[in-house]
Parts: sequence; C-alpha cells; structure tokens
Amino acid sequence: IRPLRVGMIGIGTVGSGTFRVLARNQAVIAARAGRGIEVTMVAARNLARAQEIVGEGVALTADPMQIATDPDVDVVVEVAGGTGPARDWVLAAIAHGKHVVTANKALLAVHGPEIFAAASAQGVAVMYEGAVAVSIPIVKALREGLTANRIEWVAGIVNGTTNFILSKMRDEGLDFADALAQAQALGYAEADPAFDIEGVDAAHKTALLAANAFGMPVRFADAQVEGITALQRIDVACAEQLGFRVKLLGVARRRSNEGEDGVELRVQPALVPATHLLAQVNGSMNGIMVKADAAGVTMYYGAGAGSEQTASAVIADLVDVARLDGTHAGQRVPHTGFHAHAVRELPV
Ligand code: HSE
Repeated sequence: IRPLRVGMIGIGTVGSGTFRVLARNQAVIAARAGRGIEVTMVAARNLARAQEIVGEGVALTADPMQIATDPDVDVVVEVAGGTGPARDWVLAAIAHGKHVVTANKALLAVHGPEIFAAASAQGVAVMYEGAVAVSIPIVKALREGLTANRIEWVAGIVNGTTNFILSKMRDEGLDFADALAQAQALGYAEADPAFDIEGVDAAHKTALLAANAFGMPVRFADAQVEGITALQRIDVACAEQLGFRVKLLGVARRRSNEGEDGVELRVQPALVPATHLLAQVNGSMNGIMVKADAAGVTMYYGAGAGSEQTASAVIADLVDVARLDGTHAGQRVPHTGFHAHAVRELPV
C-alpha cells in the first residue's frame, strides 16, 4: 500500500510538533497504521522558518488553498487556527475528496455543523482528537470505549491556560497577569488569550464533548460562558481556607424540562472540594469525568496544552485515516461527525 500523503496547513506550535513526532516515531507509526504516513506538502506564512523545520523533500507553499486542492494530498492537517480562512480551506479540502484532521476547536465549535454536513455528503472523515484536551483521547473514549452507554454528564477542566493561572495564584501567590504571562511564554495560551481567560476556549471544547456524548449537533452558541477574569488572588486564597479549590469547569449534562430531554452546556469557575479528584488536576493539566449508565463514572487526565501533546492526538487521527483508507482501498468512507438526532436542546 502506498503511504498516506499528508498536506499540513500551519507549522507553528502544533504543526512543528506533529512533524517532529511523525519523523521520530516513523517506524512504529507506520507499523500501527499499516502503511507509511508522509508529510508531502506544508503551507506556512514564514517559508524560511518552515524550511528549517521540515528540511528537504517537503514541498512548501504560502497558499493553503494549494494544499486543500492538490490531487496528490490524501489528507489535510489544519493546524493554523482561526475560523475565517480555515473554514474555507477545510471546506475546499472536503470538496476535493480529502480527509481532514484538525486541532482547531474554534473552527469546529463555530462552523462544525456546516463542515460535518459537507464531509458527510462527500464521504470523507473530519477528525479532531487534538481539539479537546489535547493529550487525552477523550473523543475516542466517548465514541469507542463508552459507545454502549447512555451518557448522563461530562464535566471537567478542559483549558490548560486557566488551570495553570489558577494553580499559580494558589500555589505561588502570583497575580493573575503574571500567571497569564507565564502561560503565554510556555506556549499554552491561544494566540488571543482572551479565548482562554474568558472561558470561550473551554466552551468550544465542551460543545464538542457534548456533541460526542449526546449525539447532538455542536451548539457552542447556546453555552453559558463565564471565565476567570474577575477572580483575584484573595478569592483563590479564601476558597483554599474553606477547603475548596477554584476550577474553571466545563459541564455538559442531560436535563429534563417538562418531559423534554435537553442538554445544558456551561463553563464557569466553580468551588471544587479540595478532596475531589478534579481538585488534584493542577498546572496546565486537564481532567475530564464522564458519568455513563453502564460504565459508571470514568475519569481522564493528561496534559491540556503543548506542542507534542497535541501532536500525539493529531497523529492518532492520521493513523485512523490511514487505516480507513487502506481498508477501503480508495472507497469512500463514512464521515466521523455527529449524529444529528435524538437530543433536543433546551434554551438555557
Ligand atoms: N489554549 C488552550 C489551553 C490550548 O490552554 O487549553 C489547548 O487547546
């Protein structure tokens, strides 16, 4: 079988990590995928810097649309971020029959319904394990490991930057602004850190979790969102004295109202008892709990931000795509979006 040919849009924190891990673990990844996975083309704004990262043998372009439309690219990895041009590139890739792997939670939270509908019509896969809690395979856990269950709720810490800030305020008495500056320096924060501290990034991820847990469309616009910008060191210290930790939680849970089933989506700072497992999730780590009817409560813990931590998830999706395409030998495969059925949303 010929290698899976990957076109990568963006070679920043996530893209360069993906390139590095693919190269370092090439043999084991090929063995697991059943064939090689090769990055053949990269789109970047800074071509000189991109050249330093990818070396020889990879075509470079400044035009992402070239990757989305090139007949020699099987799968497009979109790790550029943003919701405007990224939407156009992803839709063009799908229209050209390419699978898409992305870590862009904002893109899917805002344009998910349109993108998944297009993928479904074309019979291609859109995969995004790296979009939620980077290192933790929570999308696969919900879709595969827990697939026999009726999910009651999903709740957790899904933004590394805010968890890092809250941990620094508590453990080292840092001010909000200093802690945020450290998170940015470590590469955890979004390009615009307002997405992190205002809870929007966590809401993007919570909407994606809900879509997978409850088989509903992505309903980011309906989420109730509150970030951590109003919190001060004194709030965190007082909570500590009372036996609690302040955590920014994303919650998606079933709710019944006058006999109608719905899903509540919320992101807000919460007082978590210091003995609770989620209170032990500190620094830039993420932790997610899922309540399922048969499996009971399960919990997932791991790095919530970082270059190779996200690459791990992006490559897992590439391996899935390589297996799909290999198995079906060129046949169209079903998309991996959401089932738009069953759960009606209640106004919140
Ligand atoms: N800014 C995000 C976070 C990166 O801090 O969680 C990973 O999605």
